Amino acid sequence: MTSGHLRSVLMLIVALCSASASNWLYLAKLSSLGSISEEETCEKLRGLIQRQVQICKRNLEVMDAVRRGAQLAIDECQFQFRSRRWNCSTLETVPVFGKVVTQGTREAAFVYAISAASVAFAVTRACSSGELEKCGCDRNVHGFSPEGTASEQNTGGRASSLRLYKRPCVSPAGFQWSGCSDNIAYGVAFSQSFVDVRERSKGQSSNRALMNLHNNEAGRKAILSNMRVECKCHGVSGSCELKTCWKAMPPFRKVGNIIKEKFDGATEVEQRKVGTTKVLVPRNSQFKPHTDEDLVYLDPSPDFCDHDPRTPGMLGTAGRQCNKTSKAIDGCELMCCGRGFHTEEVEVVDRCSCKFHWCCYVKCKQCRKTVEMHTCR
Ligand SMILES: *[C@@H]1O[C@H](CO)[C@@H](O)[C@H](O)[C@H]1NC(C)=O
Repeated sequence: MTSGHLRSVLMLIVALCSASASNWLYLAKLSSLGSISEEETCEKLRGLIQRQVQICKRNLEVMDAVRRGAQLAIDECQFQFRSRRWNCSTLETVPVFGKVVTQGTREAAFVYAISAASVAFAVTRACSSGELEKCGCDRNVHGFSPEGTASEQNTGGRASSLRLYKRPCVSPAGFQWSGCSDNIAYGVAFSQSFVDVRERSKGQSSNRALMNLHNNEAGRKAILSNMRVECKCHGVSGSCELKTCWKAMPPFRKVGNIIKEKFDGATEVEQRKVGTTKVLVPRNSQFKPHTDEDLVYLDPSPDFCDHDPRTPGMLGTAGRQCNKTSKAIDGCELMCCGRGFHTEEVEVVDRCSCKFHWCCYVKCKQCRKTVEMHTCR
């Protein structure tokens, strides 16, 4: 074998090893898929594996929702990680997070969970908005519900986690299920087939595949377990003689908050064989086992302190803004990894001396003030 051959074989091995199941997130980098009308378009989309190309061809109308889901996942990741050392910044490459999420770290767990959730969310939204032919509102939610038994009527949801909106109106007679209930079952099923496909095709054998699948499912659970009932009153001047209710997903920010909490409390796991099946169990046997809704990870995270040109996406924290008075991860001590920080005075424009005018608006002045801004060395 010539050295050229050897090099290409090595590069192939590197490419295969670093191939990440979240490559499809690259779809977020496309401006819009509008309505992809041609099956060939699916083959040109970067980041999809062959099985995803097939799903794309069979579900052309859903693909723009998938793209919006990818964007939603990246935006939410950047919001939730805005004051952490790794801030979820993306590259113009596949995979969009560079090599940062190719290890089985807590960060990878978050990215997988939020991505699986975002596809379920965006596809469900598209169903409810009437954008898709294959799905619409959830018509299984119908009929009349006596007050207080909303949870039993609710299909697929968890009775205990349902909360009825407290409304000033009282409708002693109960309410009518009506309006458009979010078809979360369709969105979740689509997410399972599209997002999980790479792991499933590996035969679920590697511990990394088990980790990804678990976290994908946990992400979708963050929506499923937090479905709520929204209602509207009808009748003379809101007297609420008739109340109609429907099932709705939580706002995606709430889903992001839940998954971030799971990230903070994620369980480090290892693979164990139980009979013939492989399962993930807590590495520390003193810890209570994780639930379906918790995030799990296999590898400790790097410290994310320094820029590493060999690890795309590992930008380091130099130049990051930090909080001088905080002792948490957004504080200059931890954020800058002890390297110290610069302080400069910057002028900001703010609203001030706000006055309430009868009736009803608030008028403010614009004030300039100088504040100290700290950035890591
Ligand atoms: C993340 O941090 C890098 C510096 O490490 C900065 O260039 C980038 O703008 C930040 N991205 C976001 C989304 O805040």
